[in-house]
Amino acid sequence: MKKSSGTKPLIVGLAGFGTVGGGLARLIEENAELTSLRAGRDIVIKRVLVRDARKVRQTPLPENAELTTDPAVLTDDPQIDVLAELIGGVDHARSLIDRALDQGKHIVTANKALLAEEGLALFKKADRKKRVLRYEAAVAGAIPIVQTLKESLTGNRVISLLGILNGTSNYILSEMTSNGLDFNVALRQAQKLGYAEADPTLDIDGHDAAHKLILLIRLAYGVNYPYTALPVRGIRGLSTLDIRLAGEFGYRIKLIGQVREVPGANGRMSLEAGVFPVLVCKEFLLGRVSGVYNAVQIEGSAAGSLFFHGRGAGDLPTAGAVLSDLVGVARDERADSTGFARQDLPGATILPQEKGSSSFYARLSVKDRPGVLRDMAGSMAVEGVSVAQMIQKSGEGSSVPLVFMTHETTTRAMNDSLKRIADSGLLTEPAVCYRVLL
Ligand code: NAP
Ligand code: HSE
Repeated sequence: MKKSSGTKPLIVGLAGFGTVGGGLARLIEENAELTSLRAGRDIVIKRVLVRDARKVRQTPLPENAELTTDPAVLTDDPQIDVLAELIGGVDHARSLIDRALDQGKHIVTANKALLAEEGLALFKKADRKKRVLRYEAAVAGAIPIVQTLKESLTGNRVISLLGILNGTSNYILSEMTSNGLDFNVALRQAQKLGYAEADPTLDIDGHDAAHKLILLIRLAYGVNYPYTALPVRGIRGLSTLDIRLAGEFGYRIKLIGQVREVPGANGRMSLEAGVFPVLVCKEFLLGRVSGVYNAVQIEGSAAGSLFFHGRGAGDLPTAGAVLSDLVGVARDERADSTGFARQDLPGATILPQEKGSSSFYARLSVKDRPGVLRDMAGSMAVEGVSVAQMIQKSGEGSSVPLVFMTHETTTRAMNDSLKRIADSGLLTEPAVCYRVLL
């Protein structure tokens, strides 16, 4: 057994003993000496809250810790200094944190869904109670992006931020691209490896990435961008045909979260933000991020371009970020939750989605007849959309895929031209359209 630091240990109530909670228990055990040296005192788990006390677990319970299924046993224990909330979900986690704050505990959480949807109220409450609420593990797993935005980049204005923020989606897309795996097989593998959320629709429909993007927008811009206002599209239904065709143009398809400043007419900046699959050039660093890896690319006004890359999910990578927050609490570091002095964040000025601009990839399955190509390109031209590249594949039966890459245009012009094309009655199936990263 390791030597104790002699100073009063930081006593942790661990809520959740699944992928991340189990990883945290292992790390605390394996790194005890080093962590204690860094934190200035020992970090000890006293109680562990789970849903089912009879479940057989891979990780042994921490030494001397007691298992409970009663949240109050944990939140109301006067010896516990900090709640590590790793149960996930919104409602139970919210009441657990509320009660723990009422009982004077500090909070460490990896719960991006909760923080994106109800974080501001919790930050304010923690502030009122003079407690710390830390959440490094909530965004991009092992990548220390929360602390970076809160501390290291405070000398910069963030001009834009782009991220591959969901490990499960990136894993699925990578497996579909490199190994030709079927979407569902790749999803099952991601679940088995502990990457996916308890409800994997959060991953594949883009909501998990959206939760993280909302947190990053708060940290980078000090504004409240309501979760419900964010345009979100995931990778469900994405076909291997589009992955292959994008490859022929030199691109990979990635699910990204993006926010950038766009100058408005009155000289004020608006934010253009969203989560969507995009075509990324294979040569770009973002295009080369594969598997469960996440990446965040930031354009800083002073720093220029910065790129962070690392494991975005999994037990130990995520637990390492949780443990870093516990070390911060043990050291009594009280960085503001958003890195901005006021918790009453102003509302974001949001650029209407249709005014956003991009280059687009459009796959149109059409009836193979003379003049169809002219009609498709003509419909785009009428809306002011200019074609940059085009390929035509020999199709099956009387249908043929025409694939266009456009020059930069507005989302409205692209949508209007797709509507015009659909109205022409020449499509044999709905058009597929993705943004291309500029
Ligand atoms: P998980 O493997 O499903 O584990 C959840 C744990 O919480 C289980 O031990 C479960 O108990 C317990 N639990 C769930 N609901 C509970 C309730 N109402 N009362 C008491 N205990 C409850 O989840 P996870 O993957 O570790 O994720 C935990 C959190 O970390 C989530 O917020 C997630 O978004 C976040 N996160 C996960 C990852 C990752 O790679 N997995 C990465 C970053 C962030 P039983 O064991 O008895 O069922
Ligand atoms: N399900 C999440 C992902 C876990 O796949 O990225 C990390 O937040």
